[in-house]
Amino acid sequence: MSASDLLAGKTHAVFDAYGTLFDVHSAVHRHAGALGPRAENLSELWRAKQLEYSWIHGLMERYVGFWDLTERALDFALARHPEIDRASREKLLDAYRDLDAYADVPGVLDRLRERHVKTVLFSNGNAAMLERAVASAGLGTRLDAVLSVESVQTFKTAPAAYRMVLDRLRIDRSGVLFFSSNRWDIAGATAFGFDAVWVNRKGQPDEYPDQPPRAVVKGLDAVI
Ligand code: LAC
Repeated sequence: MSASDLLAGKTHAVFDAYGTLFDVHSAVHRHAGALGPRAENLSELWRAKQLEYSWIHGLMERYVGFWDLTERALDFALARHPEIDRASREKLLDAYRDLDAYADVPGVLDRLRERHVKTVLFSNGNAAMLERAVASAGLGTRLDAVLSVESVQTFKTAPAAYRMVLDRLRIDRSGVLFFSSNRWDIAGATAFGFDAVWVNRKGQPDEYPDQPPRAVVKGLDAVI
């Protein structure tokens, strides 16, 4: 499906942050030498627990900020990996505040804006977390809006999270093309009524067959 097909009638490209624009594993990767051979396992567990905590707190309707959940997830992952020095905690958290953006991100945001499509970041991240991440990745001038679920005190895949995007931008869902690398997020966005593009950066098997994406791409530059 061509960019023109995907973008037909769309006024806003809405992007998930972690895993889609920012490489969540770049934090551990930066310190992999000091962390030892289980560094990748630590990073995978850190991400898995961070997401699990967001789903559980969303279902319990007991909101806790995503940065707190990120810290708690790292503490769990470090406890499960006693071979990794806990003294690395602060430098890993600091690296997580300044994650690398994927190489395809700046160009895609620029090309979307050349087509007069607004570019929006929409994330589970706290507002302060996102402000720091956007600034450190140099994306501030390339995004028209940065939206955090913090304003609705819940997490994706709650419909209220996606609805916040429409309310804040004062647009209809038909004008949104949603992008995420997280297949569960694509399921939530599709269930809400967004046209969603799964950015399957890691070549994962498909899931959630009842909530299919509009398109699947390996990277953002396959879209535009
Ligand atoms: C986000 C995470 C869930 O940015 O990827 O919302």
